[in-house]
Amino acid sequence: MEDPVTQPETGSHYLQPDRNLAMELVRATEAAAIRAAPFIGRGDKNAADGAAVDAMRAFLGTVNFDGVVVIGEGEKDEAPMLFNGEHVGNGRGPSCDIAVDPIDGTSLTAAGRQNALSVIAVSDRGSMFDPSAVFYMDKIVTGADGIGVVDISQSIGDNIRELAKAKGKQPEDIRVAVLDRPRHAQLIEEIRAAGAGTRLLLDGDVAGGINAARYDSRIDMCVGIGGTPEGIITACAVKALGGLIQGKLMPKDDAERERALAAGHDLDRVLGANDLVRGDNTYFVATGVTHGELVDGVQRKGPIIRTESLVLRSRSGTIRRVEADHLAAKWL
Ligand code: FBP
Repeated sequence: MEDPVTQPETGSHYLQPDRNLAMELVRATEAAAIRAAPFIGRGDKNAADGAAVDAMRAFLGTVNFDGVVVIGEGEKDEAPMLFNGEHVGNGRGPSCDIAVDPIDGTSLTAAGRQNALSVIAVSDRGSMFDPSAVFYMDKIVTGADGIGVVDISQSIGDNIRELAKAKGKQPEDIRVAVLDRPRHAQLIEEIRAAGAGTRLLLDGDVAGGINAARYDSRIDMCVGIGGTPEGIITACAVKALGGLIQGKLMPKDDAERERALAAGHDLDRVLGANDLVRGDNTYFVATGVTHGELVDGVQRKGPIIRTESLVLRSRSGTIRRVEADHLAAKWL
């Protein structure tokens, strides 16, 4: 183990992840996106995911940190790699929690549709909410304008009106992203009845949430029930973007409800950004697999493979876009 060093930004002697970690992590999402790219539009989501998982795990192994996977592949697919509790990294750096989604949008990738991302979020060890109790979460995400006026406990109509007021807009100008699922039929009706427009997502509410929190995007709000893991990953990004995220656990059946209650979860509790990930030391990196509003997908241009990534760090509040050209010959 390296000796703990004084952190210039905190003065503390605890070995915390530092700013370089973000740029190291992006190599892992780039690798996952590049390896998934040959599977875009090939109709096999497991093959795409498998290629992304292998590449991400291999690159993470070279990164200077001791990460414990809090959100991994295991829960969903009983995957043998990047499972919850697995240690990743070379073990020599700071102790962190890590959430991985080698592809958010596996079906999008397999179908050749837009908005699939490869994603990693990292925070200090012990700071991420454990999502294992309940798979789904009701969520609401907005930019900074929503803080103090938008609340998941209010009706969607009130939230749209309040956000519009805070943004100096009319409800008719508000665009709300929501996963296109039968469970959202009434929510979609209520959004439209309030005068706002929907942007229906086939999949991928991480990208939807980030677009809602991002300044100057075409989405003002992202709402509805999606994965709890995706909610925690989104919270890591929202902290760096300065926006609002709230969630409420949504058990899918009685058995899940019982398990959640037995584990001590209060199902009425509104979870804010600080409940989903504690502290102000979060990292979020995402590389486009297929093209989307957030980032471009992987592109082959002659001898190079071009990737576009987003690198966010909450402590500094920086949002970087990283365009990288990779010599294709090195990726044979
Ligand atoms: P995967 O790519 O891992 O399948 O997740 C896609 C996704 O759309 C998430 O972004 C979202 O949170 C979740 O699935 C919604 O779940 P469901 O498809 O069951 O409604």
